[in-house]
Parts: sequence; C-alpha cells; structure tokens
Amino acid sequence: MNAFERFLVADRSSREIVKLASRAAATESTVLIEGESGVGKDLLATCIHYASRRAEGPMVRIDCPNLSEDLLECELFGYEPGAFTDARGRKMGKFELANGGTLYIDGIDTLSLVLQSKLLRPLQERAIERLGSTSARKLDVRVIASSQHNLVDEVRKGMFRGDLFYRLQVIHLKIPPLRERKADIPALALYLSTDAGARAAKPGFQIASDALSLLATYDWPGNVRELRNVIERLAVMAMDTTATREDILAALPSIEPLGRHQEPLTLREMEIVYIQEVLRRARGNKSRAASILGISRKSFYDRLRREGGAKLH
Ligand SMILES: Nc1ncnc2c1ncn2[C@@H]1O[C@H](COP(=O)(O)OP(=O)(O)OP(=O)(O)O)[C@@H](O)[C@H]1O
Ligand SMILES: [Mg+2]
Repeated sequence: MNAFERFLVADRSSREIVKLASRAAATESTVLIEGESGVGKDLLATCIHYASRRAEGPMVRIDCPNLSEDLLECELFGYEPGAFTDARGRKMGKFELANGGTLYIDGIDTLSLVLQSKLLRPLQERAIERLGSTSARKLDVRVIASSQHNLVDEVRKGMFRGDLFYRLQVIHLKIPPLRERKADIPALALYLSTDAGARAAKPGFQIASDALSLLATYDWPGNVRELRNVIERLAVMAMDTTATREDILAALPSIEPLGRHQEPLTLREMEIVYIQEVLRRARGNKSRAASILGISRKSFYDRLRREGGAKLH
C-alpha cells in the first residue's frame, strides 16, 4: 500500500504537496512542515516516515508545546547519572530512541531560543551528547519538524534562529488551510464519513450532495480536525443514514453569521442569514451564489424578491 493513501487529496494545491512529500520521503533530508492547527501535519509526517527506507525503524514524536523547557531537554537528549540533582539513572533521549528511524519534532516554533541553539549540532552532525556526558554518539536519524507559524516571519521577528531554520527547511512543505483548498472539503467529507459511520455503528452513513457543497462554504478554522469532528457528530446524531443540509446547519452552530445572534433564529431567518453569507462569499455574484446553494438561478432570484431586496443585499 502506498503510504500516502491515507492522506486524502483532491485539490490541486494539496496534490502538489503530496507529490513533494513523496519525493522527500525518498531522501534523507530534514523536512519542515508548516500549517495551521488541524491541517494534517502529523499525518503527513507519518506518511513520509512510512514511505521512506526507515519505515521498519521507529517513528518517535516529541510534543514541544506541551513540555517544559527542562523536560524537553531531557526528553530530546537523555541524560547520564548525576547530570542534575535528581538524575539517578540514565535515560535515552528521543534522538537516540529514533535511531534508524524518524524523529518528529512537533511544534518546533514553540522552542525557546536557548533550546533552538542546542538543536544545531545534532542536526548538523547527526550526533548527540546525553546531558552530563562528554562523548557524542553518532546516530542515523531523519528529522521532520512541524510549525503552526510561518518560520520566515518568526526569524524576522527574532523569535526563531535563522541558522536553525536553514538547517530545517531543506525540504519545506506548507499545507494550506482547508478554506484555501475548497476542493478537498467534499472529498474529505466523503472519505471521513465512511469512517465515522463505521465508528458510530451506522454503516452506509453518507452526506447528501447538496449538504457537501454547504460544507464547502464554511471557513473551517480548525481545518481537517474540525471537519472530522463535525462529521463524527453528524454520524452519531443521524436519525437516517443520510445527513442533510439541515443536519449540517444544526451541527455547525458556529457557522459565522449565526454566531452573532443571541436568540436562536427561526428557520426562515436562518436561511436569510445564510443566503447573505453565501452572497458575500460569492462577492455578490448571484449565479455563483445560486450554484453554491444548489438551487436554480430563477428560484434564487424569486427568493431574493420574496425576502425583500434590502435584506439580502
Ligand atoms: N488530507 C487528509 N486526509 C485524511 N485525513 C486527514 C487529512 N488531513 C488531516 N487529516 C486528519 O485530521 C486530523 C488532524 O490532523 P493532524 O493531527 O495531522 O493535524 P496537525 O496539523 O498536526 O494539527 P496540530 O497543529 O493541531 O497538531 C487527524 O485526524 C488527521 O488524520
Ligand atoms: Mg500535530
């Protein structure tokens, strides 16, 4: 099985990324994956590992944002007895644990400047020294790092070391947010709904096609993770095996225009708000708005007339 099969793509931009990533997998180069939360950085890193010659070796992950500075240093490099007051035994660090495989440094943008400088040598020489040790150990490790922030900007702001950035970005993959690769939304929704249906014991669970296009109008600030959660919720709540547009409107209370209202809206009000939103996104192009809404241009115009032009412009 192709290791990248799990990373579903439909949009041209994400197809390009998978192409680059599979080329990266065939090399030993360090890879930097950038993208907002939930865009699929962990998944892509995993695919690269399993598509590489290291697939049989370990894939070790270190979660930088959730570890304190001291702990991170111990976890990365390991230590020898007496390296610090309560270092009784010795401990292998994640670099060593990843020997023969891949070390995935997740959220590298959150490392302090001091820790960043401590990564320079291991990356350059593929060797590490445990804390409290004086000898370096040679390692065969490929590093993949991820960042939610644009590291070029972070370097400019003085928050990230330029020399570390250049060592990391030998191969630089930027996964765009879901809202910038709209064609992926319905494709991912279909793919994720099969999975969600199976988990919710609703085999055959699917999303109606007009409902799929509705999903594509939402901004998805939480990206694929948010889409996955919404679909899982839909599968759990579904009365029927098919989720409809109404189900989706109910499952997405955060669809932006609804959020501004304190009181729950009537169905009719909600439709007006929603049509306004679609019109806004279609930049006032009524034919486009009608096609997004899945209705004919004629019924769209009728609708506008009925609701009173003022409200819908
Ligand atoms: N292209 C894709 N195909 C299939 N599933 C995907 C895809 N992209 C993301 N996912 C799924 O979306 C969820 C979030 O992805 P992932 O954990 O890789 O995001 P992330 O970029 O690492 O987020 P964070 O920055 O918050 O750690 C996971 O369940 C993942 O399997
Ligand atoms: Mg992640």
